[in-house]
Amino acid sequence: MELTVTTSENHHTALDDVKKQIETVIKGKSEVVDRLLICMLARGHVLLEDVPGVGKTTLARTLAATLGLQFSRIQFTPDLLPHDLLGTNVLNPQDGSFSFHQGPVFTNLLLADEINRASPRTQSALLEAMNEQQVTIDGKTYPLAAPFMVIATENPVEFQGTYPLPEAQLDRFMMRLSLGYPNAEEELTMLRERRIDDPLQHVRMVLPARKLPLLQAHVAQVSVNEDVAKYMLRLVIRTRRESGVEIGGSPRASLALYRAAQARAFYNRREYVSPADVQALFADCMTHRIVLNSAARYGGVSVEQLIRTISDEEPVPS
Ligand SMILES: Nc1ncnc2c1ncn2[C@@H]1O[C@H](COP(=O)(O)OP(=O)(O)O)[C@@H](O)[C@H]1O
Ligand SMILES: [Mg+2]
Repeated sequence: MELTVTTSENHHTALDDVKKQIETVIKGKSEVVDRLLICMLARGHVLLEDVPGVGKTTLARTLAATLGLQFSRIQFTPDLLPHDLLGTNVLNPQDGSFSFHQGPVFTNLLLADEINRASPRTQSALLEAMNEQQVTIDGKTYPLAAPFMVIATENPVEFQGTYPLPEAQLDRFMMRLSLGYPNAEEELTMLRERRIDDPLQHVRMVLPARKLPLLQAHVAQVSVNEDVAKYMLRLVIRTRRESGVEIGGSPRASLALYRAAQARAFYNRREYVSPADVQALFADCMTHRIVLNSAARYGGVSVEQLIRTISDEEPVPS
């Protein structure tokens, strides 16, 4: 027992160090960094919706550096094909045999930049890989790396020439987050620190990637009592029934919220999920999955507002 306590204490210290390292680079985004780490612990993928230049690429690169994760970035474009992402069988002219050349998806942390610029075919190839942790090419299946996490980015203001992700695909992301601008003071700090060189070059690996599966296994052990689980479900089920909703949270959404809440509890050094974990993550796990009907949309209702109302109204277990 003593041993478990010590090892898990080490894990927590390592996680604190990861956050500190990330914050040597990314300024003023403490809550987003927490959520990104929570997703990572919960084996989830993240959709980052933001305008250009707010540190999305830098955040992904920094996260990879703090864990020594293998990192790939793919710029999604309309002509990107599934095999550009997944890999392809290449003919060996010497003996006529084929060998598989892995695509960039075979990595630990994949940054899929501007995912809504690729064709639906390529998008779904990625999302299938995300969901199944494997890819199938010419009838043969190849497992992806473990850990494997996707951070996909989307520009919220640019719609021309894009293929918005369908709801079924959005559902594959555990959370949708956005960084937003730093405040003036934080931006000033960023400018000062960047005068001489790039702080990303000084980021240290503080948690070896091979330990991540162990942490993820601990997260899965975090307990969720009956009342809290039922509370979670009441929240999700309400997103299906509320007036104005066309598509509410799926069972995959409930699962995402459940796992994320476990990861938040672990991240905050607790062995059980509290209603506060659920409340803190409900919006980030849910808003991207909900579609309002046109009457509600034209009536000026927003998904964010709907989620807030549900969260405020639903009685919280003590
Ligand atoms: N909150 C922030 N803290 C520190 N640096 C930032 C922040 N936001 C943006 N930057 C810096 O601005 C530049 C552009 O960031 P980048 O990660 O390329 O943005 P994006 O991928 O969102 O377009 C980088 O040098 C990055 O470090
Ligand atoms: Mg970028």
